[in-house]
Amino acid sequence: MRFTVRPMQKDDVPQVMAIDREAFPTQWPPPPFTRDLNNRLVRYLVAVDRSGGPDQGAEALASGERGNWQALLSRLRQWFTRESPVGGSGQEETVAGYAAMWLMVDEAHLTSIAVRKTYRRMGVGELLLICMIDLAIKLKARVMTLETRVSNREAQALYRKYGFSRVGIRRRYYSDDGEDAVIMTTENLTSELYQARLRRLRQAYADRWVPASQTLPSPLPD
Ligand SMILES: CC(C)(COP(=O)(O)OP(=O)(O)OC[C@H]1O[C@@H](n2cnc3c(N)ncnc32)[C@H](O)[C@@H]1OP(=O)(O)O)[C@@H](O)C(=O)NCCC(=O)NCCS
Repeated sequence: MRFTVRPMQKDDVPQVMAIDREAFPTQWPPPPFTRDLNNRLVRYLVAVDRSGGPDQGAEALASGERGNWQALLSRLRQWFTRESPVGGSGQEETVAGYAAMWLMVDEAHLTSIAVRKTYRRMGVGELLLICMIDLAIKLKARVMTLETRVSNREAQALYRKYGFSRVGIRRRYYSDDGEDAVIMTTENLTSELYQARLRRLRQAYADRWVPASQTLPSPLPD
């Protein structure tokens, strides 16, 4: 699997800020990422590219990942020469996207999810959402809610896929342009129905994005 997911660390903050600025250019002020690292009510996850960056990954992806000798050789060269941004080279890892969640009693509020433009449509947003839902369940949240712009069709499609439904509208929620927000929420995350849906979606995700020899990344310890 090209991407892995883990909790955000201090060193990730500059990249996460850049992703946030690119995805939400009119949002001000930006979230207090560094301060939030010490806030027990907030959880951040980052999706990290293990392939060495968008270009190498795109090359591998375009030719089907497995069986691409050039991409494989380039990756091997990176590992042996320690050029790769991942794997203990001392260089920065490439953060492809991040997600943030607030925990309020038994409710998890997904406050943000954003993927670098160069990494969109590669399953990164979906992977982050799966991992956030897993984390919310682990932290005993009953439901997950969020707000999103009424015009944000891409995000709403992602959320609908994961069982979020529209439960209301917040008028003029966004202060930059006065756009309304749609409030979306899941059913009970631990219900048999939702768990079955999640199992189906995880399997479909794995069939589509995860090589047969690997497992779906998880930020949670076993
Ligand atoms: C929304 C966002 C996070 C999706 O990330 P992504 O990595 O590109 O999405 P994925 O490749 O994982 O796609 C997962 C699902 O999202 C939906 N989706 C993503 N991009 C879409 C698009 N351009 N059009 C329609 N649906 C889209 C689909 O349901 C897709 O499932 P499918 O592949 O089975 O159709 C990304 O577009 C983004 O960062 N947008 C800017 C920030 C933002 O608006 N965040 C949401 C704030 S509430």
